[in-house]
Parts: sequence; structure tokens; C-alpha cells
Amino acid sequence: MENGSIQVLLVDDEEGFRQAIARRLDRRGLAVRQAEGGEGALAILAESAVDVVVSDVRMPGMDGLELLDRIKQGYPEIEVILLTGHACADDGVAGIKSGAFDYLCKPIEIDHLTEKIRQARDKIQRREEKRREAEYRRRMEEQMIATERLASLGTLATGVAHEINNPLAIIKEAAGWMTLILNKPEMEGAPRRADLQNAAGKIEDAVERARRITHQLLGMVRKSEGADMTDVSLDALLAESIALIYKEALNRDIEITRWVDEAVRSIHTDPYQLRQVFINLITNAVHAVGKNGRVIVTAQPEGDRVAITVKDTGEGIPKEHLERIFEPFFSTKAPGKGTGLGLFVTRNIVEKLGGRISVESRVGQGAAFIIELPRKKTKT
Ligand SMILES: Nc1ncnc2c1ncn2[C@@H]1O[C@H](COP(=O)(O)OP(=O)(O)OP(=O)(O)O)[C@@H](O)[C@H]1O
Ligand SMILES: [Mg+2]
Repeated sequence: MENGSIQVLLVDDEEGFRQAIARRLDRRGLAVRQAEGGEGALAILAESAVDVVVSDVRMPGMDGLELLDRIKQGYPEIEVILLTGHACADDGVAGIKSGAFDYLCKPIEIDHLTEKIRQARDKIQRREEKRREAEYRRRMEEQMIATERLASLGTLATGVAHEINNPLAIIKEAAGWMTLILNKPEMEGAPRRADLQNAAGKIEDAVERARRITHQLLGMVRKSEGADMTDVSLDALLAESIALIYKEALNRDIEITRWVDEAVRSIHTDPYQLRQVFINLITNAVHAVGKNGRVIVTAQPEGDRVAITVKDTGEGIPKEHLERIFEPFFSTKAPGKGTGLGLFVTRNIVEKLGGRISVESRVGQGAAFIIELPRKKTKT
């Protein structure tokens, strides 16, 4: 509605009057449909988008007030302006009580009616803006709650992992000591020695497994602040990231390939954060392709930096979105499907790692996200 003309439905049983008004509203740039009664009006509303209904009150069959009630029930976003007979202000007042935007007494002054219709449209737009603002706030609050939940979950998980590590270490040491004793020559011939050795071995194995889990947990919830730099195999990191998305891609008949230039086998970076970047970009690419297509990840040297490109054969990005996709909460995905934080987080990480991210895309021709990162330790 914002850009196009206002969609008006004019309801009146007097054909000559209706045609005359419709013609004049039309000349003033409004798009007018007509109905000669309440039933006809409802049939039109069921099929087409209407912003404002202008209706006579006194009509045979369903009258204007009943039509108003039906509209308020079925189409609460539509505004209704009533046209009352001369000296029939009571009808108008009753209409306003039932939710009409306003009423005008016949004979109608056409500029007055046009102005009223515009006001009704403005009211609709203000309401729509408010609704959008509320929706935006709601999404933001949801996101904040999710982030906080994740943070407290992270704190809890690391806390538990940390606490459990100490007793695990003690159990492991004690089990090792038991094995040591059982293996001594003096224990030869001790009753059920083999059973005890076996049991001690099982304890050691299980402790080892538990420790692997706690270590993973401690790694996974690593704080996103600050970078933990180390020498990383770029190829292995890409393979690991792709493996996490591989199944979803397979289900959609999407092939993900990677190619890493020999010269950039190893780079100095934070693997956990860079993996997050890869996962975000490759996931976006898979979503953009939808079904049946390709995602290609390449890494090449570029001076003392490395350029990593994630390219897809998806729908591409329209020009007017290109500068907005890195904004927090910008998403073209259905509500609940995307938060619009993926690229925002991605860019933050890349910049924290001393790099840059850019994008090249045309609608219908896929998209390419290019990350440039330092390859070697930078002196600070
Ligand atoms: N490879 C791509 N091809 C086409 N459009 C893309 C691509 N990557 C991102 N976009 C566009 O950028 C928007 C923002 O991406 P971003 O990753 O920030 O959020 P999202 O994917 O919508 O949600 P999420 O928070 O789940 O990642 C997407 O909604 C999409 O419109
Ligand atoms: Mg995303």
C-alpha cells in the first residue's frame, strides 16, 4: 500500500451516485472498486486487498452498520468511512461507536471525502509501522534471551566440566596405581588377580572417555572474546567445518567442494572462531542454493595474506541488500528461521582476527564471500 495508490471499496445501492463518486475519486489517483450492497462488498473483500471501505448506511439487505461489524470482525486492518443520509448523524455516531473511522453526511463534498480517505490510510500506515517496530523489538528481545541462555549454559557447562576434571584425575591416578600393584610379581597367585586387573583397566578407559568429553566441553564454550591464536591446518579446519554441514547439503543434493593452495596449508589464527566463520558462510550458501547446486570453498595466497572464498550457485543477493546483510538482525529468511546475526558475528570475528570480509553477488548468479586473513603471526 505504501507506494501504490490507496485501494478503496465504494459501497452504495444508488448506481448513479456511486459511479459519479467513483469516477471522481479515480481522477484523484485512488483505485476504486464498487459494490451495490453489503454482500457484494464482502465478496470483493474476500478476494482482493482493500485499504479503505466507503459505505452508505441505508441500503436494502445488509445495511452499512452491519457491513461495518462484519468488516471489523473479518478484516480488522481495514478502515471504514460511512456515508449517512442528510440529517442522519445518529447513524454516523452509531458507526463510530462500532469502530468506523469517520462518517460524512450526504451530499458529499468530494475533496472532503478524499481527505478522509487519506487520513484513514495514514492511520493504517501508522498502525503498520507500530506493528513492525513491536515485531523488531520482540525479535531483538528473543535474541537477547537466547544469547543470555547460551552464555549461562556455557558458564554452567564449563563450570561442571572444570569441577569434574579434578575428581576424574584422582580416579585415573588411583586406577593406575591399582594396576601397578596388581602387575607386581609379588601379586602373582593372588586370588582373582586377572579379574581385578581387568576391572582396573575398565576404570582407566572410562575415565579417559569422560575426560575427553569434559575437554571438548571446555573447548566448545570457549569465550568469544579475545582470540586464541595458534598454527592451524586450513585444509583440516575447512574439512571439519564442511563435515558439520555435509548431511544437510547431501539431503538437498548440494555438493560442497574445497581446494586449498599448497602455500596456505597452515595459517596462524584462532581455529575455534575461524571455524564459526566457515560454518556461518557455508550454511548461508547451502540455504541460498536451496536444492541442487554447488558450494565451492577455496583458499589462495594473496601477498602475506590468505584469501578464502565461499562461492555458491544460489539465488544471489539483490543490490539493495548487499550493504545491509552484515547488519545485525538483517535476514530475508522466514521469521523464526534466521536471526540475521550470522554475518554480523562473522564480520566481527574476521575483523578481530585481523582480516576483512567482502561480498560479490548478482541476482540469479550466486554469491561469493571473500575473507582475507593474515597468514603469519603479526607482531603487536
Ligand atoms: N550466500 C548467500 N546467498 C544469498 N543471500 C545470502 C547469502 N548469505 C547471506 N545472504 C543474505 O544475507 C542475509 C543475512 O545473513 P545472516 O547469515 O546474517 O542471517 P541469516 O542467515 O538470515 O540468519 P542466521 O542468523 O540464522 O544466520 C540472509 O538472510 C540472506 O538474505
Ligand atoms: Mg546465516
